[in-house]
Amino acid sequence: MKTVECLLRHATTGPGTGALLDLLDEAERAHAAGMRHAGSRDEFVLGRATARLLVAEGWGVEPSTVTFRAVCRSCAGPHGRLEVVTAQGVVHVSVSHSAGRVAVAAALGVRCGVDVERIALRGAKPPVTALSAAERAVFAAVPQAQRTAVFVRYWTRKEAVLKATGDGLTVAPATLTVSGPSEPARVLAWTDRPEPHLTVHLSDVDVGPGFFGALATLDLPHTVIG
Ligand SMILES: CC(C)(COP(=O)(O)OP(=O)(O)OC[C@H]1O[C@@H](n2cnc3c(N)ncnc32)[C@H](O)[C@@H]1OP(=O)(O)O)[C@@H](O)C(=O)NCCC(=O)NCCS
Repeated sequence: MKTVECLLRHATTGPGTGALLDLLDEAERAHAAGMRHAGSRDEFVLGRATARLLVAEGWGVEPSTVTFRAVCRSCAGPHGRLEVVTAQGVVHVSVSHSAGRVAVAAALGVRCGVDVERIALRGAKPPVTALSAAERAVFAAVPQAQRTAVFVRYWTRKEAVLKATGDGLTVAPATLTVSGPSEPARVLAWTDRPEPHLTVHLSDVDVGPGFFGALATLDLPHTVIG
């Protein structure tokens, strides 16, 4: 079966992240300057710098010539899933950040979505309303000590899919059912999926210790190059 090569990188923010601002374009630098939370700003800067370098390396272009564009699936505004036009075609790019870890995926001609999450809870309890009935049944059956990891695995798989389609969280994650953590990643069901209906290919990806990651591509299965 035909597959698409999906380039994947992960990186962590640190003292050198500020210096990467020089790699960003004017609009991205202005966006970063408006971000008050230093941690979020660093993640944005590292994400866009990593994305630019990944596209430059993968498709043989100068980093300074990489201009990301985005068209929101909901309002057609200039935000959402990223893409860049190269001489070889449109490269689709997905960026994700969590607790200083950044993951970037890029594929030529195929839409992709990546999600990275720290294996930890943001609140006191996992927000199980994000899970479908089938996922909740699996979640409820696992021992308490494993529930955070199980929830984060589900969440990364679901969010990678919603990022590949461009829906993001405008679509309730509970409408989507993915396979459980003990099975290979795949989409099992999607009720009320907005048109157009799509084939989604899903895998778990290594984004470093302490974090889970997932990658989704539309229409074609992927081979991860990272
Ligand atoms: C995308 C979304 C799922 C990200 O959630 P998150 O866990 O906080 O963030 P992540 O770190 O995984 O991803 C952030 C990246 O997702 C990308 N992104 C934003 N919206 C996206 C979408 N609809 N589809 C795919 N990717 C999207 C951006 O590149 C962003 O990175 P950047 O800030 O460096 O540009 C969530 O914020 C969302 O649904 N946003 C869009 C909501 C929307 O479309 N509203 C309608 C507006 S009119």
